[in-house]
Amino acid sequence: MTLERKIVLVGLMGTGKSTVAERLAGRDAAVADTDAMIEESMGRSVRQIFSQDGEERFRDAESEALAAALASHAAVVAAAGGVVVRAANRDLLVKAREEGRAIVIWLRAEVGTLAARVSGGEHRPLLDGDAVESLRALEAEREMLYREVCDAVVDTDEMSVDEVVAAVIQIAEGDRS
Ligand code: S3P
Repeated sequence: MTLERKIVLVGLMGTGKSTVAERLAGRDAAVADTDAMIEESMGRSVRQIFSQDGEERFRDAESEALAAALASHAAVVAAAGGVVVRAANRDLLVKAREEGRAIVIWLRAEVGTLAARVSGGEHRPLLDGDAVESLRALEAEREMLYREVCDAVVDTDEMSVDEVVAAVIQIAEGDRS
């Protein structure tokens, strides 16, 4: 896949950002996945960083990972669910859009759909306990923030991964023409 702009996927946990990003990039293009970047740079899992250092330290690493991902040569960025929480991160995303370096796509789904998809998610300590309740709270807190940073929304509830990939490509190609 060759596109002039990076595709940046945002959205809550369980919307399929990482899977869709890998599929979009295929064999030829690189993916920058902020969770994977953090785990690599800190040498620990997301869960370990949360429990040993606390969420704020994780969010610091996340801001660094997002900036590095946007500055990288990766064609696709899978931005973890929480990147929109900090205003500085939202500014980075909006700036990348305004400068024509990125198109930001919000993968959205109902909480019930997300809860079914995320069961057993090892790198998601925020969903320990009642995942539905936690997702509902995160959705309420973040919906406006995803909307603020995105160019387009894909409602993934009724879609297969293939269909989501096709929808994202259509948006990205439409954006180019
Ligand atoms: C989080 C999302 C997770 C991971 C961490 C916190 C969030 O990433 O970064 O558990 O705050 O939404 P995914 O969105 O890739 O699951």
